[in-house]
Amino acid sequence: MEGFQVVSRGPLTAPLTGEVRVGGAKNSALKLMSAALLAPGRTVVTNVPDILDVHVMGHLLEELGCSVTVEVGNGDEGAVVAGRAVIDVPEELHPEAPYDLVRRLRASISVLGPLVARCGRARVALPGGDNIGSRGLDMHLTGLRELGAEVRIEHGFVVAEVPGGLRASNLWLDFPSVGATENLVMASVLAQGTTVIDNVAREPEISDLCGMLRAMGAVIDGVGGSTLTVEGVDRLVPVEHETVPDRIVSGTWAFAVAVAGGDLTVAGGRAHHLDIVLDKLASAGAEVSTDSADGFRVAADKRLESFDVVTLPYPGFPTDLQPFAMALAAVSDGTAMITENVFEARFMFAQELARLGADLRTDGHHAVVRGRPVLSGAPVVAHDIRAGAALVLAGLAAEGTTTVAESHHIDRGYPSFAEVLSGLGADVTRIDLPDPER
Ligand code: EPZ
Repeated sequence: MEGFQVVSRGPLTAPLTGEVRVGGAKNSALKLMSAALLAPGRTVVTNVPDILDVHVMGHLLEELGCSVTVEVGNGDEGAVVAGRAVIDVPEELHPEAPYDLVRRLRASISVLGPLVARCGRARVALPGGDNIGSRGLDMHLTGLRELGAEVRIEHGFVVAEVPGGLRASNLWLDFPSVGATENLVMASVLAQGTTVIDNVAREPEISDLCGMLRAMGAVIDGVGGSTLTVEGVDRLVPVEHETVPDRIVSGTWAFAVAVAGGDLTVAGGRAHHLDIVLDKLASAGAEVSTDSADGFRVAADKRLESFDVVTLPYPGFPTDLQPFAMALAAVSDGTAMITENVFEARFMFAQELARLGADLRTDGHHAVVRGRPVLSGAPVVAHDIRAGAALVLAGLAAEGTTTVAESHHIDRGYPSFAEVLSGLGADVTRIDLPDPER
């Protein structure tokens, strides 16, 4: 089983120095690829990251009748190179997304809206929950019903049918869900009439998707705000669209310097997508400069002060950076309260961090973390993308050897993570770990 090995003598002993280039956002590229389904012809999504999930989404689109080529560049060892996905969409789609692909990629659910909009019907396997939460879909399904679709759950599939085509309506989301916003916007662009969706997600990935849909000919107002107005059109056209940079990967590099020390330029990262994160790191004692047009710089040469975190939908503190905030708090000066408001099971990571000697307590969606000068290396397990990457960073602040098993999770979201880290001065390598006793 593949794993990562991290060897360190503790915080600030192997500072990370140099420049990293951030590629396109996983959580946008996957939805942009789904949006291609809305227009027959060739759509090209550029700046896609070279990660597993992009290839799985490519396979899913092929199952739906498209022909897909994912081209990823061959950069120098550890270099992140922008790829592109060339998607040829036929007039006739096969609107059925099989379980064996959907269970590997939750983002597959984002084909539901486009399929119902284009084909008037869809059968998409239910992705089920994962290690960070139950991951409900009620808002997706309720919204489609309000747009006139008959929706039922059958043999593990969402089955949606609307023979006469979707009809506009006024929708309201109970929570600004990213996934529900994306599916309902993509369903509404071809609906008859004007749909108003209130309390939508405002993440930069949503604006990126709306930007592509508009270029395809969709009429959408209110992008970036909490209400979207979508005037349905008869037909969309294929386009070429560049994926927005990955703000979660950018934030991960900022936390990497905060935990291990160093001086890093995060090229291609957009500081204004991370305002609250960079503000907190600066107030904790890191040096943050955002005046470069092509990215930002973070430097730290001492132990930072603890800070509290409350995860919220954008522009609040991103839940995907919560494990990194917890790893930093474990070696910061003071005590931090971390509150997780988006995913109810996102503290599984805390138990793995405790294995590295972190002094923390969790209670429901609160965690209290008392900072310690140094952690101690140990074998740990990655339960999801962000938790895995955060454990690697925690290993940089631990004395001795840390091994992170199930590192395939990390590869799902971070191109060449081990190689980039070792290029910056860290002792991080890929290793083979014995398969755990079954
Ligand atoms: C997206 O997940 C991202 N995934 C997640 O990133 C990210 O953490 C999340 O948005 C929040 O920013 C992708 O884009 C592929 P939600 P999504 O719908 O769309 C509940 C990563 O590490 N909910 O905003 O699934 C849901 O259970 C991943 O890259 C319902 O109850 O997130 C959750 O508790 C992890 N019913 C909350 O809302 C619904 O119908 C937020 O979910 C929809 C959501």
